[in-house]
Amino acid sequence: MIHTLFEYIKKPTMYALSSSEFWNDSYISKNMLRTHLDPNIDAASRNFKFIDQSVKWLNSIAPVETHPNVLDLGCGPGLYADRLNSLGYQVTGIDFSKRSIEYAKKTNKNNEYIYMNYLEIEYENQFDLIMIIYCDFAVLKPTDRKKLLKKIYKALKPGGKFIFDVFTSVYYKDKYEQTSWAYIEKNGFFNKEPHLCLEAHHIYENNVRLNQYLIIDENGHIDNYLIWDTFFTKETILQEIRNLGFNSIEFYSNVCGYKFREDSETMCLVLNK
Ligand SMILES: C[S@@+](CC[C@H](N)C(=O)[O-])C[C@H]1O[C@@H](n2cnc3c(N)ncnc32)[C@H](O)[C@@H]1O
Repeated sequence: MIHTLFEYIKKPTMYALSSSEFWNDSYISKNMLRTHLDPNIDAASRNFKFIDQSVKWLNSIAPVETHPNVLDLGCGPGLYADRLNSLGYQVTGIDFSKRSIEYAKKTNKNNEYIYMNYLEIEYENQFDLIMIIYCDFAVLKPTDRKKLLKKIYKALKPGGKFIFDVFTSVYYKDKYEQTSWAYIEKNGFFNKEPHLCLEAHHIYENNVRLNQYLIIDENGHIDNYLIWDTFFTKETILQEIRNLGFNSIEFYSNVCGYKFREDSETMCLVLNK
């Protein structure tokens, strides 16, 4: 056990994988769903006031009359998809959390919810609006982002929009290379039983960040969860989308359509095909 621990506490190589299932672990996914559905917090999903405002803005820039067919990638339990459907949109939601998709299917029978990895989508000229909301695009490694962007462009109808958000350097300005630990007696986010949580924040080249959680239970079992992210500037995101074929690109501060500001923690892009 100690050898495994010593291996895990070395700085992981870029885009190394978690040792254990994260999104579909039966205990973690229950906590994750509860977090999505908490109306007041920004974790897993944003707070409901923000989501309501966001849906209102989406409706204003991609009205249902002209943009009725929506693809929501990483839809979670369908908080956006459900609201959009009540405004008349037909939404296809894709997520690789089984529990979230089951919840979404139960709460809304009009939308289509699919349990799959969105990197595997194969659509052509089918959607008026495609979205990836809550900075999920940037958890992917560069080759997967490139692959996904091409698939999204292909899946959009001419005149369609792709909307997504990412974190900026402002979000990470106070996050340094650091480690900490905690003893959790019961009902932690990752484990129900007593455990130690060793937490690290690692910094890599090209604005890549890693949040690492080592969960060690009383039997000495270790789970190593690696949550990757990249923050972007206008320039670095433009490099990724410049040659895809989109006609125009708009920048906002967030997915509620606030005017773009350099001091915003997030950046939202609207790409028009
Ligand atoms: C931060 S949550 C955001 C959920 C939703 N967009 C929202 O704002 O309420 C990210 C979601 O993306 C899903 N996800 C992450 N990577 C995925 C992938 N490659 N394929 C499908 N779903 C993915 C996760 O399961 C999770 O539900």
